[in-house]
Amino acid sequence: MVQKKHRSRKTLNILDKSKKHSQFDYTEIFRHIRTNIEFSTVGKEIKSISITSTQPGEAKTTTSINLAYIFATKYQRVLLVDCDLRKTMLHKYMKMSNQQGLTDALIEFGKTHRYNPDYIQKKTDPSFLGTLSILTGGVHVPNPSEILGSDVFKDYMNVLKQNFDFIIVDCAPVGTISDAIPVGNAVDGTLFIISAQDTNRKDAANCIDLLKRNNVNVLGSVLTKSDSGSGIYSYYY
Ligand SMILES: Nc1ncnc2c1ncn2[C@@H]1O[C@H](COP(=O)(O)OP(=O)(O)O)[C@@H](O)[C@H]1O
Ligand SMILES: [Mg+2]
Repeated sequence: MVQKKHRSRKTLNILDKSKKHSQFDYTEIFRHIRTNIEFSTVGKEIKSISITSTQPGEAKTTTSINLAYIFATKYQRVLLVDCDLRKTMLHKYMKMSNQQGLTDALIEFGKTHRYNPDYIQKKTDPSFLGTLSILTGGVHVPNPSEILGSDVFKDYMNVLKQNFDFIIVDCAPVGTISDAIPVGNAVDGTLFIISAQDTNRKDAANCIDLLKRNNVNVLGSVLTKSDSGSGIYSYYY
């Protein structure tokens, strides 16, 4: 039987000082990634990002959560959104309800064109400047590509941008489905996750190329599951 490793459990909620994370200072690593994101584009302020990768299991959701925590220590209103609608996981990692979320909010917004904050849950932490808001995936839908590619999604994202200081969107991988492209087009920039243990270099290059050809602003990549360098995370332009 193959033994499953659960190393990322150590990396969830990097701000929780009561848990020993290992010899690496993850808070510092994520602060460094935050700074790189903030200064990645000259002349244009980055206020919303999406996170994608080549395939499932490369630590997109884990990285999204950790980044959301670190942004919440600096920005008043931070929102973390689950846009991996085929495999909604954010609510499980965050131990939150997914009774209603993004898909439900989009269905309502498509009819009313009014922003309803009731779909968004909140998390507080003494180290946060304000609150961390979470929009889980919501009810399972048969047509995620259609929904994420719609004008309703684009308009909804614009309304979210007006209501939050920084938005982080956890996306599906690019290798098999194109859901991350319309999401990438709706945010200011995209981070591409590369797992030192899982990612095929050529596949990743093809995915990044596909994103760029579809006008997604790829800001850089984060290397996960690496045992060398600065622990299990590194950031590259
Ligand atoms: N930095 C990391 N180092 C090692 N393992 C990790 C790391 N981040 C996440 N993992 C593990 O990798 C698996 C996939 O993580 P997840 O964030 O759900 O990936 P994705 O969202 O890309 O599918 C999980 O089992 C998690 O425990
Ligand atoms: Mg995920």
